Amino acid sequence: MLEWFSTWSVIKASGLTSYLLLFLSVSLGMFSYGKLMKPNIRGSLLIMHQLSGWIGFLFGLLHGLVLTIDSYQPFSYKDVFVPFAAEYHPLSSGLGTIALYLFVIILVTSDWMKNFGRKVWRAIHYLAFPAFVLSLVHGLAAGSDTKQLWAQLFYLGTAVLFLIFVYIRVQYAADSSQTSQESASTENLRRARTKSAKRSGQA
Ligand code: HEM
Repeated sequence: MLEWFSTWSVIKASGLTSYLLLFLSVSLGMFSYGKLMKPNIRGSLLIMHQLSGWIGFLFGLLHGLVLTIDSYQPFSYKDVFVPFAAEYHPLSSGLGTIALYLFVIILVTSDWMKNFGRKVWRAIHYLAFPAFVLSLVHGLAAGSDTKQLWAQLFYLGTAVLFLIFVYIRVQYAADSSQTSQESASTENLRRARTKSAKRSGQA
């Protein structure tokens, strides 16, 4: 039992939990805004989206902090918080650090959305997509479990689902912008006709 419960197992478990929760958060986020879902479902999705984002980030932070007390492969605070400073897997560890920073920026700006304005918030919020991809590459490249079949299927499954959700979201955004363009031009045509009918009535 004690053998199983090592700092290394906490590092691995918290990394995987963080990745899974951030996958959930990014996925739920794609369906929590816009009119793709009914308003009552959207409300619940939004709560789960925000909650999984914050808890996922906290697990990511725990994952980084436990690395500093690990005796087998110790990390300094600099290794954890300065991208690419670690000697162990410098590139993939650095991607994990950048993902962590991107997620904290996204979460903080969301909670203070009113201070930033919707346009700035939206631009920052879209960083969730590269942040998730960085977490995926980081987990795949740095993780010692990547050799295991279950871990490979886990990363593959989440990556495929992520791509499907992005496709649905982009497709929906394109359809709704076409519909709003069409309804705008129908409205313009209606106004022009009313105007010309009024003019011919006056003549
Ligand atoms: C949101 C941020 C992060 C996420 C989602 C994340 C996720 C993951 C995942 C899924 C793994 C694979 C675990 C396994 O194979 O069992 C992993 C491993 C690892 N991560 Fe992170 N990580 C993040 C941040 C960081 C940071 C800031 C560092 C510090 C530089 C870091 C360093 C490592 C290291 C050294 C490993 C290898 C552990 C092993 O041997 O399995 N990660 N991470």
